[in-house]
Amino acid sequence: MDKLLITGGQSLNGVVRASGAKNAALPILAATLLTKQPITIKNLPHLHDITTMLELLGSMGCGVVVDEKMNVQLDVSTVNRTEAPYELVKTMRASILVLGPLVSHFGEAIVSLPGGCAIGSRPVDLHLRGLEAMGADIQVVGGNIVAKVDGRLKGARIFFDKVTVTGTENLLMAAALADGRSVLENAAREPEVVDLAECLIAMGAKITGHGTDTITIDGVEELFGTEYSVMPDRIETGTFLVAAAITAGKVKVIDTDVHSMEAVLAKLEEAGASVEVGEDWIELDMQGRRPKAVNISTAPYPAFPTDMQAQFVALNAIADGVGRVTENIFENRFMHVDEMLRMGADIEVNGNTAIVKGGSALKGAPVMATDLRASASLVLSALVAEGDTKIDRIYHIDRGYECIEEKFGSLGAKISRVLN
Ligand code: UD1
Repeated sequence: MDKLLITGGQSLNGVVRASGAKNAALPILAATLLTKQPITIKNLPHLHDITTMLELLGSMGCGVVVDEKMNVQLDVSTVNRTEAPYELVKTMRASILVLGPLVSHFGEAIVSLPGGCAIGSRPVDLHLRGLEAMGADIQVVGGNIVAKVDGRLKGARIFFDKVTVTGTENLLMAAALADGRSVLENAAREPEVVDLAECLIAMGAKITGHGTDTITIDGVEELFGTEYSVMPDRIETGTFLVAAAITAGKVKVIDTDVHSMEAVLAKLEEAGASVEVGEDWIELDMQGRRPKAVNISTAPYPAFPTDMQAQFVALNAIADGVGRVTENIFENRFMHVDEMLRMGADIEVNGNTAIVKGGSALKGAPVMATDLRASASLVLSALVAEGDTKIDRIYHIDRGYECIEEKFGSLGAKISRVLN
């Protein structure tokens, strides 16, 4: 199995392009199930999760043509199976995103119920309750969600007790073809939800309020083909900027989305980085300094994203001072801490808060990636550690970071993919 070998101690410098956002691309690909016309999605990142979603759509009979730039042409008119099997769902929980579009467009869906995962139990009850409120009959049979509706779903007012990103996306897609008006209250405001809504609007959907916590959808009878380009990845962008900060370097991320980065940029500035932004680029210059520790508390957008939490634990580990990092979204998202302790970090986890004492001189060690974002923190720690770090189970990293060794390598990191 592939591993990443990183020799730490290089200051990162240079320019890197942000890839398309995985978490926007996945719902947008699922949304193509809502039209019978050919549709083209551009700026997809080259990642395992994207391949899994394309495989899932292909397994339903959808025509999928990918060109060398990862632009994908999809043709749903040939779909003859409305099922997401366990083999695919178990490798990618976001497969649940096909549930709303399938039941809304085809009147039926069988989607394997996603089980627990490394970062907690992650239920999908709010997705199911919302679809029921729209008139779907939902049963869980043999580990599968079996959803059916006679005729069209009906528009409904849906209040989420908890802000859920994929839950909002699933119901937004379902509502786009429902009969009548739906109002999603306490909806997720994440930029990826907005990108999905913009794609649906380009397909002919009638949606307002996306980007706020109340989204109104007036269902239409039919959606159309279009060409849509996925937004840049704010988490990948943030990870490159932390890499610059942690190695006292200077990195410019181009073709990115500046507006979705506010909470993260504010924390990087608080850590002592000089940050400059243009229309579609961000440059972070650490001017050779060690960062200052910062306190982080994760919450739904526009607050600090849980997907950047692990990266800031790594930053705090080598910073001046003590940083408290509180995780409020997922119950078990500190698995990177045990691996970082093996590299010499000084971190104590108390409930949902990690108290990170800075100033550690991290040392390279063999470590294991446990989930996607946790693995990013190991890469960052390795970049600044003395000596070699070998990261095992990097399939987690490949789920979310496109060409990680090429991209970090182009900034001066000593990083390579090795077989053992
Ligand atoms: C999405 C992102 C993930 C990110 C997360 C939070 C994708 C593909 N993944 O995951 O990268 O970390 O948002 O920003 O976009 N919950 C329920 N019931 C539900 C649904 C969620 O209780 O039906 C809870 C979850 O357990 C969690 C919280 O709500 O505690 C937020 O989860 P949610 O926003 O749904 O995360 P995902 O959409 O799975």
